[in-house]
Amino acid sequence: MEKNFDYLKDLIRTIPDFPEKGILFRDITTLLKNKKGLKDVIDIFTERYKDKNIDYVLGADARGFIFGAAIAYNIGAGFIPVRKKGKLPYKTISADYTLEYGTNSIEIHEDAIEKESTVVIVDDLLATGGTARAMIDLVDKIGAKIHELAFMIELKDLNGVDKLNGHNVFSILKY
Ligand code: PRP
Ligand code: ADE
Repeated sequence: MEKNFDYLKDLIRTIPDFPEKGILFRDITTLLKNKKGLKDVIDIFTERYKDKNIDYVLGADARGFIFGAAIAYNIGAGFIPVRKKGKLPYKTISADYTLEYGTNSIEIHEDAIEKESTVVIVDDLLATGGTARAMIDLVDKIGAKIHELAFMIELKDLNGVDKLNGHNVFSILKY
């Protein structure tokens, strides 16, 4: 049964024209500072992924770290930070992507995930799907299994899901 978590939307602030004109920015800092909001979001993800034999949670730099590390701790998985270019010290593999407001490149340590492992990819928000798709590309290069991609927010109109190669996608809130 799909549950309705729309009460969490009241905790998210919407800022027009940030970081550039035409973007409706969904500001999650107002949810993060709310004790119940933060706990409820982490609990929803935790319930969904506990007992699923997930080895690693991958979080996207930077907002994906906030939820990703908490989920990993709760479900007894490891946490892997997927970082923007130039931040990781060891040998990396990288993937380029475009997003709602620009282009970028993300990286993972080449030895971060074993081929036999199962991962969940976590981010705060799915917009065009560029970031999430780049994360999928990194995991595919390594050959590990993606159980699901998890987002707190999905911006439906941008059709990000279409870029995600048919992988399972879970989003708590849809706009
Ligand atoms: C935001 C957000 C997602 C991404 C979604 O990150 O946290 O990672 O954009 O957009 P997309 O689906 O079009 O790729 P951003 O790159 O702004 O970085 P931040 O987390 O450091 O703020
Ligand atoms: N990342 C990409 N698009 C975004 C948006 N509209 N609001 C917040 N974060 C975003």
